[in-house]
Amino acid sequence: MTLGLRAASAATVVALALGAAGCEDEDSDYVPPEVCASGDVAPDLEESPLMRPGGDCIGCHAADEGPSYDLAGTVMVGADDDTNCNGVGGIAVEITDAHGAVLTLATNAAGNFFHELQAGAVALPYTARVLYQGRVRAMASAQTEGSCNTCHSDTGAPGRILVP
Ligand code: HEC
Ligand code: HEC
Repeated sequence: MTLGLRAASAATVVALALGAAGCEDEDSDYVPPEVCASGDVAPDLEESPLMRPGGDCIGCHAADEGPSYDLAGTVMVGADDDTNCNGVGGIAVEITDAHGAVLTLATNAAGNFFHELQAGAVALPYTARVLYQGRVRAMASAQTEGSCNTCHSDTGAPGRILVP
């Protein structure tokens, strides 16, 4: 548990550092992936729902004036895929909040999913499941951090969120 948390916060620090660099030079935060199980490299998009698959969407948007989300992340092919490796579209991500309200988000062509911030819409902590063709991957623990990729990074203990 402590190992996982330490790895997660290291990933967060890296993501924040990349976000801060983005303020000075718009292109400097884009790093082409070296590990990419899909073989499908995301282009350097600046303002797009397909941008930065695997990146810390919420952390960077909070620092860089992007849209505000309460939940965001990416469903990818490989557990250690680098950021900017495209994930998988058409996958359902089901969030159940602390009050039992269920929210289902669909991944887009980059594998990204996100939900616009609405005050009080998602009661914390939440649980998450990913569903595809009757198969399920469920997160056993409940979470309060909505930017999934901060933990589900290429280096974080749980690895990437994968297709069931
Ligand atoms: C390195 C920083 C960074 C990361 C990481 C990042 N974004 Fe962005 N995003 C931005 C910035 C900056 C904008 C543009 C804000 C503006 O000019 O209004 C933006 C804009 C957007 C937009 C708005 C596009 C439009 O129609 O105007 C969407 C959607 C979006 N991001 C989705 C995502 C998703 C999903 C992720 C995670 C998979 C993500 N972003 C990760 C910085 C980032
Ligand atoms: C604070 C860290 C953290 C955050 C944030 C987080 N996760 Fe997780 N996730 C984990 C850990 C650790 C595991 C493995 C242990 C478990 O299942 O609880 C996991 C497991 C999972 C699994 C099951 C993986 C498998 O193959 O069995 C899924 C699916 C998942 N998470 C989806 C999500 C989604 C979707 C989000 C965002 C809405 C998210 N997670 C946010 C840490 C996190």
